[in-house]
Order: sequence, then structure tokens, then C-alpha cells
Amino acid sequence: MPRLKTIPPEPKPDCSLCPRLVAFRRANKKAYPDYFNGAVASFGDEQARILVVGLAPGLKGANKTGRPFTGDFSGELLFRCLAAMGWSNGQNENRPDDGFELHDVMITNAVRCVPPENKPIGTEVNNCRPYLMARLDALPKLKVLFALGKVAHDTTLRNFGFRLADYPFAHKAKHLLPNGLTLIDSYHCSRYNVNTGRLTEAMFMEALMETKVALNN
Ligand code: URA
Repeated sequence: MPRLKTIPPEPKPDCSLCPRLVAFRRANKKAYPDYFNGAVASFGDEQARILVVGLAPGLKGANKTGRPFTGDFSGELLFRCLAAMGWSNGQNENRPDDGFELHDVMITNAVRCVPPENKPIGTEVNNCRPYLMARLDALPKLKVLFALGKVAHDTTLRNFGFRLADYPFAHKAKHLLPNGLTLIDSYHCSRYNVNTGRLTEAMFMEALMETKVALNN
């Protein structure tokens, strides 16, 4: 049931809702004129049952290429694992024109513009949430939300108006939401989490396996 007919699922690349992010974009346009440098649209299968919610574009990844998780460490890990699950054609070459396709999966970000130091602030997450809502509403077969990290987890719950305290974030946690969707949590597949040992590829695959199970429940 669409709730927000007026908001499209994707912001325009030159979205101006967040002054700090607009200023950062301006600086990045100067420093990296060949980069995409805009609000990054979601990527994937419009008939997806799974929506992966990331944090925000990486400066030299999605902000460069214009495709979520494309061109950085976290994307290599994410796309390798999605391929292992059979949810892509396995053709990721870190370029938007590499022919890579996702099957049954759509990938979006809690915040669509690259933030300084990879850290969006609360108002930026709030400003971008209507796009997350619209993205969700535009997926007719959506069953499972896969949140990469606590920011993604929290904004997804806030999006529906659910109390955060009722659904604590934990790696591999499975939350059956009152609206019939299932929310699965994972630590973010960032280089930092992998290098510090917080997340291993095996742990990430386990969270994805939970997602596969939830699809069939
Ligand atoms: N790239 C994205 O698009 N999102 C993330 O959360 C990390 C890298």
C-alpha cells in the first residue's frame, strides 16, 4: 500500500536537503572532478524480495562510480557473498557498466550522499528517510530487510514508526515486524569491521543465510 505518492524512491543526484553533504559534494567536485559526486540511486532488482540497507556511499567507492557499494572493500565483500548466495550474475568488476545484475535483491543506503569521514549525522539520516520509505513502498514483493549496521537498522525501524527498544540490534538478529516484513541485522561489511575482527566473511554469510531462511517463512 503506497504511503508516499509524492516522493520518488530515488533523490535527484543534486539533492540539496543536507547542507553539510552539499558542501562536501562541492569540495569533492573540485578535488575529484571525474567522480559521480551526487546522491547515489539504489541498485538492483525492482522485483526484489530482499532490500539491503547500507550506510552511505563511500568517498572513493559509490561516490566515485555512482553505484552503491561499487569500487570499495565493503562492496567487494558484499557482492562476493551475494554471488555465493545465488543473488547475482556474479559479474561485479567495480564499474557501473560491468554488466553486474542482482537477482531478488535491491541495495540502497540510509543516506544517499557521501558524508565526511563516512559518518552521517542524525539530521542527514532523518532527511534521507523519506527516500528509504519510498524505496520500500516501490518494491511490490518485498519480504526481508537486511540492515548493514545499526544506523541502517535504526532508520529502517523509525521509517515504520516502530520502537527501537523492541528490536535491539545484534549481528544475525531476526526481527519479525508487525507489518509482516522481517528485519535481519548484520554488522556492516566495512574494511574497519573486517580488519578489527568484528565481522568475518563466514559471519556475514551466516547473516545472509538467515535472510534466505526468512524468505521461505
Ligand atoms: N558503499 C555504499 O554504497 N554503502 C555503504 O554502506 C558502504 C559503501
